[in-house]
Amino acid sequence: MSSLPASRRLDTAWRSLERHRARIAHVHLRALFAADPKRFARFSLAHDGIVLDYSKNRITAETVKHLLALARAADVEGWRRRLFDGALVNASEGRAALHPALRDRTSRSKGASAVRATLAKMRDFVADVRSGKRFRHVVHIGIGGSLLGPELACEALAPLGETGIEVRFLSNVDGTDFARAIRGLDAAHTLFVVVSKTFATAETLANAHAARDWIAAKLGESAIARHFAAVTAARARAEAFGIPPRSVFELWDWVGGRFSLWSAAGLSCALVLGQDRFEEMLDGAHALDTHFRTAPLGKNLPVLLALVGVWNANILGFRARAVIPYDSRLKRLPAYLQQLEMESNGKSVTREGRPVGRATSPVVFGESGTDAQHAFFQLLHQGPHPVPVDFIAAAEPGPGPEAQRPILLANMLAQSEALMRGRDAAEARAEMQKQGLAAAEIRRLLPHRVFAGNRPSTTILLRRLDPFHFGLLLALYEHKTFVEGVLWGVNSFDQWGVELGKQLADGTARLLKGDKMEGHDSSTAGLARQIRAWAAARRS
Ligand code: F6P
Repeated sequence: MSSLPASRRLDTAWRSLERHRARIAHVHLRALFAADPKRFARFSLAHDGIVLDYSKNRITAETVKHLLALARAADVEGWRRRLFDGALVNASEGRAALHPALRDRTSRSKGASAVRATLAKMRDFVADVRSGKRFRHVVHIGIGGSLLGPELACEALAPLGETGIEVRFLSNVDGTDFARAIRGLDAAHTLFVVVSKTFATAETLANAHAARDWIAAKLGESAIARHFAAVTAARARAEAFGIPPRSVFELWDWVGGRFSLWSAAGLSCALVLGQDRFEEMLDGAHALDTHFRTAPLGKNLPVLLALVGVWNANILGFRARAVIPYDSRLKRLPAYLQQLEMESNGKSVTREGRPVGRATSPVVFGESGTDAQHAFFQLLHQGPHPVPVDFIAAAEPGPGPEAQRPILLANMLAQSEALMRGRDAAEARAEMQKQGLAAAEIRRLLPHRVFAGNRPSTTILLRRLDPFHFGLLLALYEHKTFVEGVLWGVNSFDQWGVELGKQLADGTARLLKGDKMEGHDSSTAGLARQIRAWAAARRS
């Protein structure tokens, strides 16, 4: 290793990447593919039924070399070791981030016996609920990391809810969502699972109280204890709410909300899928943990995915990324990744509190394919600012007509090929000539029918979407997010940026109730005045 200080090595690595960019900026992806028939083999990696194809990014072997130098300069290997050793990687909150321990059922690590005890308690609870046929409906109440992962997992792995238990998810404090969540439910057969690490999140508590009032009104106060379970690090608060200890499941401070699916926060999924399938999901994530922990950087799926992410975001300057799962069971994956990536890495200061000085998390957005094609793909193909895309698909069909899977997958392949190749003027002209268009018409239409191409995409292909591969996929993105955070020098495990709005909401709530407007800006005061006026008009 070079004797330069770490920060100098890092600056040098970033600068080499910039210089390298200038050298390859003019090369089109089409040319890269034409020049190297082995490009796919060179820039793809398979592991445990998952294929990562990053060949349709604007990279060469030299780019990867520079990116790996950056990873070494940022000490990705050291941070990876610290993560798995349970070091205080979340320094601003003084915590470890030990979510990998949640899926390592053989571990002797910190917290392992507590994890095993909670899994055993979940197994008993799940068996009891599923055999007793007491509950036909589960309403999972939580928000952010306490809901997005479980919601995605349930939709991905139990899309048809064949178990006889229907699960619904309730997060927003909008009363409309509560009304929707309980519509048509029979209270006598409904279990509410309240997931909140703090048991203090305003939205979750508002919904939990509304649910408690609903149960009390339908079945009497004494029914509350039977119709609620909680998953929390604040056991006393859950018990004070009226949930008996046997139905309170433990969360720990070393599990961040957005990394908590693997804990009892996934209880509603376990109720629907069964505990065995839930644990298969843990096994998939653990397999990816082992790969991430042991594979060399250049053969490491999350590391490569992160390096491509940083190349696109920082060196090529693409400030957004689209996530397009070609599988409706993964429809909520974009929402899940939005929180995972943007809450983890949407930061402007380093772990040491200094300005990062470069771009961090891009804006992540998405929708399932083929729906997305008919909504915003126009911009992806012909908009002035390229947006890199992650395509995700499972080769084997899910439920429903099998004949439709090849159509779905063909669409995904066509989109990534079209983004990469584009259609140049000669091709567009030839096509219009073939269609018999007049020369003047061809001239008029030509600018509209040219596609620049050279638009990067990455494809993650799963053999099938089962609990194991689903766990693998999510852990891949978790570690990719962590590695990106290391490359940017930020703490990926805190989320101070969500605090200010929460704090101000107390003041604005008082404003709506009639408090004086002093201390608020004219926009906030003006809007509050209007809301109050319309509320008064409605009452009169
Ligand atoms: O939005 C901020 C946040 O703290 C998320 O990180 C977390 O997942 C969510 O709120 C819910 O918090 P809790 O589990 O404490 O209700």
